[in-house]
Amino acid sequence: MTETATTGTPELFDGEFWNDPYPAYAALRDAAPVRRIDIPGGPAWIVTRYDDVRAAFTDPRLAKDWRWTLPPEQRADAPATPMMILMDPPDHTRLRKLVSRPFTARRMAELRPRVEEIAADLLADLPADGTVDLMAHYAFLLPVRVICELLGVPAEDRDEFSAWSATMVDDAPQDAKTAASQKMSAYLGELAGRKAAHPGDDLLSALVAVSEDDGDRLSGEELVAMGVLLLIAGHETTVNLIGNALLGLLTHPDQLELLRNDPDLGKGAVEEFLRWDSPVGNAPVRFTTEDVEIAGTTIPGGSVVMLGLGAANRDPARFPHADRLDVTRDASGHVAFGHGLHFCLGAQLARIEGDVALRALLDRYPSLTLAADPDDLVYRHSTLIRGLRELPVTLGGV
Ligand code: HEM
Repeated sequence: MTETATTGTPELFDGEFWNDPYPAYAALRDAAPVRRIDIPGGPAWIVTRYDDVRAAFTDPRLAKDWRWTLPPEQRADAPATPMMILMDPPDHTRLRKLVSRPFTARRMAELRPRVEEIAADLLADLPADGTVDLMAHYAFLLPVRVICELLGVPAEDRDEFSAWSATMVDDAPQDAKTAASQKMSAYLGELAGRKAAHPGDDLLSALVAVSEDDGDRLSGEELVAMGVLLLIAGHETTVNLIGNALLGLLTHPDQLELLRNDPDLGKGAVEEFLRWDSPVGNAPVRFTTEDVEIAGTTIPGGSVVMLGLGAANRDPARFPHADRLDVTRDASGHVAFGHGLHFCLGAQLARIEGDVALRALLDRYPSLTLAADPDDLVYRHSTLIRGLRELPVTLGGV
């Protein structure tokens, strides 16, 4: 069944794949839409067709609780994780409801003017002319500042927690990841204590208040896990929306021209960037609670499953000429923010950040150009995140 179906399909997460994963994904969609692969944590299965990925997101047999990988007799004694993105109903439902309360659409929309100020400040710090790495000096700093402000993380602590976050998301050694995660949790526990004593107008203070409400509540452990999740999900993703979109524009001058000439295209263009080069290449893994058949292949119970967001969003069966970047297309329906119960809580904020970041940069630098051969650019080696390490550009004067 499975092994014969995968013969001749390309290797993933190796060599050429990092720079351009899309030919490999196309080959998988055609020849082995559900394929067993090896990733750093062990064996996994990857699903690559749009319809299958979307259906998998709402299939309760694809769970988030890692304990499904254990033999039944060991499950009860194994520790559950308190982090919402790694949980299933009913625990996930409870936490999602609690965090959604302070995380309102209105609060996000009100942030737009502040995001614009942050973008303007960062641009003011760039040299008026010359070559600069936009990942380090812009794409990364903007979402970090926004999420820190939203949560109420003091400016002087930003650099330290950004480094912990990068270690946790990148393919760093496991002990380094664990150490970074422990440091971040300790930091957030301590910060939550300060917010409890002196509440501010920030999300962490609001979450602390929720944790102190009567009735349904966030435990201290859940509060810290939520803080860690928001800090990481809030900036490790958006940085790559901005970076991937900028590279897309700089390598497609016709699309750049369209966007410059019609700022109203901005919001739709952000959806197209999310689709065309999805910042989260593969969703955080799922675990099969029993044998699950997808596209004619049976994935055994207890397996690790990756839902290929980048692969699904390039599926020509869903998006005509899917490999073509087209800022005028209707890209709605893409799965870059996931789908179903775990649909991205920060989607609205991410869209605002992407739109503001691109508009502010393009307005300020009318003759921005790429300062490297696109083939020489280096991507992060992550099975989750798709993003550049550096994006050198020539600003070209104001
Ligand atoms: C969940 C993508 C920005 C917070 C998700 C998921 C995806 C995603 C694919 C679903 C994960 C799954 O089903 O396993 C993105 C992308 C972003 C972005 C591409 C930027 C372009 C943000 C921001 C925040 C955020 C800015 C917070 C401020 C979250 C949270 C979840 C989540 C809390 C977990 C939701 C749950 O488990 O119910 N995101 N995200 N994300 N995202 Fe985002």
